[in-house]
Amino acid sequence: MGAKRRTKKPSRTKSTGKAWAGRFTAKADPRAEAYAASLDLDIRLLPYDLVASQAHVEMLGRRKIISRAEAKKIQDSLKRIMREWERNKISPRPGDEDVHMLVERRLSELIGPVAGKMHTARSRNDQVVTDLKLYLQDECRTLIDGLRAVQRSLVKQAERHVGWLMPGYTHLQTAQPVWLSHWLLAHLKAFQRDEARFEQLLTGALDELPLGAAALAGTSHPIDRRATACLLGFSRISENSLDTVGDRDFCLEFLAALALCGVHFSRLAEELVLFSSHEFGFLTCDQGFATGSSIMPQKRNPDIAELIRGRSGRLFGNLMALLTVLKGLPLAYNRDLQEDKAAVFEAADTVVHTLIVLPPLLDTLQFHRERLEQACQLGFPTATEAADHLARQGVPFREAHAAVGRAVTWAAGQKKGLEEITLEKWRYFHPAFKPGVLADVKLSQAVTSKKSWGSTAPNQVRAALGRERKRLFPGKRVNK
Ligand code: ARG
Repeated sequence: MGAKRRTKKPSRTKSTGKAWAGRFTAKADPRAEAYAASLDLDIRLLPYDLVASQAHVEMLGRRKIISRAEAKKIQDSLKRIMREWERNKISPRPGDEDVHMLVERRLSELIGPVAGKMHTARSRNDQVVTDLKLYLQDECRTLIDGLRAVQRSLVKQAERHVGWLMPGYTHLQTAQPVWLSHWLLAHLKAFQRDEARFEQLLTGALDELPLGAAALAGTSHPIDRRATACLLGFSRISENSLDTVGDRDFCLEFLAALALCGVHFSRLAEELVLFSSHEFGFLTCDQGFATGSSIMPQKRNPDIAELIRGRSGRLFGNLMALLTVLKGLPLAYNRDLQEDKAAVFEAADTVVHTLIVLPPLLDTLQFHRERLEQACQLGFPTATEAADHLARQGVPFREAHAAVGRAVTWAAGQKKGLEEITLEKWRYFHPAFKPGVLADVKLSQAVTSKKSWGSTAPNQVRAALGRERKRLFPGKRVNK
């Protein structure tokens, strides 16, 4: 034998311990490794990763890309890992960069080199999008349930307060009286639209399978993407591999839907805060959803409503963060995309948490009829009725508006309400006023006189309540 060769030859034994070890001779800097790791966040995708891998391996076995026996071996071990997850027995190792590498590492501990066959014809790039879509499907269902619970609370309160009046506002100035139930159902409508957005996601972007796009170009293995889709419950498969691995529109759509929830939470919460103030006194938040002050003994603050209002900031922030990550990003996969999960998880958790606290907060609100009606006496909320009265007599609405405006100015100077103006006085402001004006400017009349579909008219609000009850409490009879 000659002298020992000094040139380095590729070593089969010395490895950097990574899936890509073949291409590397040096280990990753631990600081870089820590910076790149995403396991802390994406560990929650583990059950979805296992389900997606089960389907992928099943398809590989059926297509004879790996043997049936190998497929079975891998699938049995994936099931075992699922049981470990359910029993909280998954222990991450320092080298586990993300959830996908953790699963593969654990699989190879269980079955050795055959574990390496699982990754045939796929890449983490299409795998992670698949996991994320499966996770988001579940999250959407949770959010829909929560949004329906909020709507049910609003319906119950609306049913409890049929016939109660409150001032409706524009510009936060008294505008026209409405039923309290109409106001509650107004907030409900916003949450119904939110619910519909998550439904649309479920049948839209989240119903399209990414797996099979592989790293970016597809694969030379004879895979059957439709079979994988079918196994995982997706109705469609994505059409362009390059688009598939770089697309996070579904995350943005999800974040946008959450941001809109935040808009709606904050608008409702703001009114709860405002209306529970001493100045309004329309409602009181239950003690269970309020806090006192460490210094001012008299205080009962609506902190939970304030936090609901405040937390919408995070939702807008996360949408903006991911929009910024995606802007100008070249096709296809870039590691920047890993940032999707931080934004999506935080926003989803925030809304899910809010949806847990909001229904009981709403259920326990106490409304104060006297204060609501007192507030309706102020600010001439039936002035439009007087103008409509004239318009019904054939007076052009603009002329009617001006006449009633003069009447209001006069009444304000006299510190009178419109109900206290005599017919004679009304006729002084416009000769076309008829005796009926005296009833028309009454508060209750202002509500009952409404005729349009969707208005605050009692029959309209009752019909709306009936529709919402039917939609939100299917199978239950109206408890009248
Ligand atoms: N942890 C990665 C992510 O969330 C998975 C995909 C990694 N792919 C890659 N080519 N480095 O995006």
